[in-house]
Amino acid sequence: MSGPTLRRVLTDAGQPSDLIFLLEDIASACRAVAYEVRNGPLKGNLGLAGSENVQGEDQKPLDIIANDIFVATCTNSPRLAALVSEEIEEVVWLKEPKEGDYLLFFDPLDGSSNLDTNLSVGTIFSIMKVAEDGDRTVLKPGREQVVAGYALYGPATMLVLAAGQGVQGFTLHQGSGIFRLTQPRMTIPEETSEFAINASRHRHWDAPIKRYYDEVTAGRDGPRGRDFNMRWVASMVAEMHRILMRGGVFLYPLDDRNRDKGGRLRLLYEVAPMAMIVEAAGGGATTGTERILDLVPTEPHQRIATVLGSKSEVDHIAALHR
Ligand code: F6P
Repeated sequence: MSGPTLRRVLTDAGQPSDLIFLLEDIASACRAVAYEVRNGPLKGNLGLAGSENVQGEDQKPLDIIANDIFVATCTNSPRLAALVSEEIEEVVWLKEPKEGDYLLFFDPLDGSSNLDTNLSVGTIFSIMKVAEDGDRTVLKPGREQVVAGYALYGPATMLVLAAGQGVQGFTLHQGSGIFRLTQPRMTIPEETSEFAINASRHRHWDAPIKRYYDEVTAGRDGPRGRDFNMRWVASMVAEMHRILMRGGVFLYPLDDRNRDKGGRLRLLYEVAPMAMIVEAAGGGATTGTERILDLVPTEPHQRIATVLGSKSEVDHIAALHR
């Protein structure tokens, strides 16, 4: 087996031991979630749980199981002050916050509409720091993230981290349970001819997104002068992993159906971590009008318009908004 282990990579990078412990807890939680996802049909964990989360979305049994695994595993960390989970309405304070303590934001199981069809799902997470003793602010801009990451439960389970050293991908070895470095430097090609959007919402989009879609679907006869390809898995982690591996742009814009909620995807534990990863890999991340990492959230479960991926394409979409 080749490739250094997760701990070795984090230690060699000089990460503080408290952060390494927390990241190892997160890796353990992801390993446990991967196991539950793989055994879902055998344990009767598909279908609906019969409950709704804070956002009014139907919960799946595995959403709840994955959330419980994260809470049980990550609360071991002595420097973790608070948790913000997609599945929990309130911020969970674990201790009196001290300067330098960590805040963990996570979507325990993203793309869970794919569970019943045995397609890829993932976990997204982000770590920030408490600014000073007693500070209970969790509404911080994404540029303050210390680490952003995701786990992809695909044919292989992967952990992808942006922790100040570019973007690194680790693969879970089935059997030993060890995450080993397999993608030392993930970068997003600047140019792309591939986009991802839920095109069934076309009639609800605003003019700049309609114009972008018209341009790329016009192909070589249109203003872009080349053919584009489209992909839509309906699982953000799977979509972003593809974009990190071969380029592309992912859009979940504001539209007439989601405008009153502010968009579709959640800022603190979905979009901001992905934006940090994408920027660290050389890509771009915007709402269309603002850089995502500069947004100061107004509430923990805030939603936001999202455009992420290859830099020149993201810049082009931002220009269409101007
Ligand atoms: O968390 C939301 C999510 O499941 C994302 O993973 C995915 O990109 C999106 O929703 C899919 O949206 P839609 O249901 O419109 O295809």
